Amino acid sequence: TLVFFAFLGCRTLVRCAYQDDPFYYDKFPDGFLWSTATSSYQIEGGWNSSEKGENIWDRFTHTCCHIEDNSTGDVACDSYNKIQDDVQLLKSLGVSHYRFSISWSRIMADGTNATIKSGGIDYYNRLINALKKANIEPMVTLYHWDLPQALQDIGGWENELLVGYFNEYARTCFKRFGDRVKLWLTFNEPFVVVWVGLGFGAHAPGISDRPGEAPYKAAHTIIKSHAEAWHTYDNEFRSTQKGRISITLDSDWKGPKDPNSADDKAASERAMQFKLGWFANPIFKNGDYPDVMKELIANKSAEEGRSTSRLPEFTESEKLRIKGTFDFFGLNHYTTQLITTQYRSDKKPNYGSDMDAKESQDPSWQRAGSSWLYVVPWGLRALLNWIKDNYGNPELYITENGVSDRNASLQDDHRVEFYRNYINNVLKAIKKDGCNVKGYTAWSLMDNFEWAAGYTEKFGLHYVDFSDPARPRKAKKSAEFYKQLIKDNGFNA
Ligand code: NOJ
Repeated sequence: TLVFFAFLGCRTLVRCAYQDDPFYYDKFPDGFLWSTATSSYQIEGGWNSSEKGENIWDRFTHTCCHIEDNSTGDVACDSYNKIQDDVQLLKSLGVSHYRFSISWSRIMADGTNATIKSGGIDYYNRLINALKKANIEPMVTLYHWDLPQALQDIGGWENELLVGYFNEYARTCFKRFGDRVKLWLTFNEPFVVVWVGLGFGAHAPGISDRPGEAPYKAAHTIIKSHAEAWHTYDNEFRSTQKGRISITLDSDWKGPKDPNSADDKAASERAMQFKLGWFANPIFKNGDYPDVMKELIANKSAEEGRSTSRLPEFTESEKLRIKGTFDFFGLNHYTTQLITTQYRSDKKPNYGSDMDAKESQDPSWQRAGSSWLYVVPWGLRALLNWIKDNYGNPELYITENGVSDRNASLQDDHRVEFYRNYINNVLKAIKKDGCNVKGYTAWSLMDNFEWAAGYTEKFGLHYVDFSDPARPRKAKKSAEFYKQLIKDNGFNA
């Protein structure tokens, strides 16, 4: 029998390790949603048009020297003036959906109801109407990192008052755009917002506090803000507008370095909980942080001589209010790490985190244009299965996935390969593993401002010439590939 199974290989009866599972030719389920994404600060430009207020990324980029190429998003792809061009690209791709974000300070200059700006509302109305006319459904993110500066000036996400301000902003967007927008995301990648913005300080507002309190405090406010906005939609808009709303969480796959080591498996699990569980556990599971986070951060805080844990606590009524505030799971995914347990000899946290886990990469993994991005297509399948097993197989939309390079070539064969292999793993997760994935979004529609990397790293399906004031766009080979894949709704043998 052994020989017989070995002969069959892992194609049929014997379950394959994800990385050994051969390419799978099949279609996606009917109605699968195909999308591509951008965000306001990364593409719009028009940073001070129509009475838009200053936001933290305006301030951050206008202050030396946070950005690799000293660039800003002042003009970016000039999408503020190029709605028709962008919609044309989307039409040509044949996507059913377009994920973009609203710039809070374009709608409310200082982030509050006192400063609502009709010019900003008008811009998004024009964009949404152009999309609807082209038969493309908008998927709108309310917060993709560009906090009004006035709200940062009162403490930003560390200030609980932002729960109320965000709720007012969300309500305004539902009111103004909800007749046409049926898919909403409250926050994009809260982990990055708090960890990179307030832990490492590499993103706006540029606060370095590691392991610190700021990231945990800000995350606490963000989770509550998400929950309140979800309830506002649920109570006041759902019955008439009939849309759906959730949050988009980012997660790498953090697998065990040695899959046969119990220590590595435990470390991998800890790492997943500290990354995805931090936000997913309260919202998608039980209203509270993962037990392992509560325990480890409390221990570390005590070691540091603090009287309370750096991780804040939710009250019982807050837990009830947070639990279940989702209509689907929004997931951004790019890369994978291998995790081992490695307590530092002094028992202090590793890597500025509290989780006591060490990450590495397999030397065979291909690298991309971003230092953190290793190409590991099967990691997405592993992650989708982890989510399925941990959160009851929720309906899930992949709201970002993509790859960077540092050149301007239209012949982006590596990006074609990336999409082909990552999307094939999504297909396997659906067809072979029963994961409830309903849609896929490629990041990004076009090259754009890649945060601290400025314009040095490109993720676009379309090339943008940033040296030309007209910011012309041109399809790359990957755009042609994605277009065909959408048309076929999968892979033809
Ligand atoms: C995730 C973020 O949401 C997006 O803004 C960014 O450009 C991509 N990752 C690539 O780093």
